[in-house]
Amino acid sequence: MKKIITKNEKETFKFGSTLGKSCRGGEVFALCGDLGAGKTKLLQGLATGLGVKSRVNSPTFNILKIYKIGTVRGKNTGPVKGFCHIDAYRLKSERDLISLGVKEFFNQPDIVTAIEWADKVKKIWPKHARTIKMKQLTENKREIIYS
Ligand SMILES: Nc1ncnc2c1ncn2[C@@H]1O[C@H](COP(=O)(O)OP(=O)(O)OP(=O)(O)O)[C@@H](O)[C@H]1O
Ligand SMILES: [Mg+2]
Repeated sequence: MKKIITKNEKETFKFGSTLGKSCRGGEVFALCGDLGAGKTKLLQGLATGLGVKSRVNSPTFNILKIYKIGTVRGKNTGPVKGFCHIDAYRLKSERDLISLGVKEFFNQPDIVTAIEWADKVKKIWPKHARTIKMKQLTENKREIIYS
């Protein structure tokens, strides 16, 4: 486990984008932390680091949203071809996610998946899931513990 403290949302975004750039595909990130801890902010950075061009918002009303990572002027930007963003906040059980076929994404070598409120669906975490635990320390400080 590693720990970082960010002093503002920009630093959290930056942490996410660095993490995104280091992804090779197949990663599953399980994010835990209360309302406003900064999960979506971190994932906006992660998505940018992966090469997602469209804006990543909270998928609360969709539960799951897929972002395609395409090419830039015909050139392939990296090994990751898609970002799957899941928000488990409203889910009652992992069954709801399983019926959406999420397990398929977990094993795709060119997709990166991130789950907000992952502690609500612990049973479906794949073995290779990496945890990101976020905690609000003060108005702008966040503790991020990750594996
Ligand atoms: N260091 C920081 N890192 C991240 N966000 C911060 C930080 N300091 C302040 N903020 C603010 O905290 C809020 C974090 O919101 P965000 O939507 O990312 O949280 P969340 O964990 O996804 O919440 P939810 O559970 O409601 O989805 C934003 O308004 C952001 O500007
Ligand atoms: Mg969020």
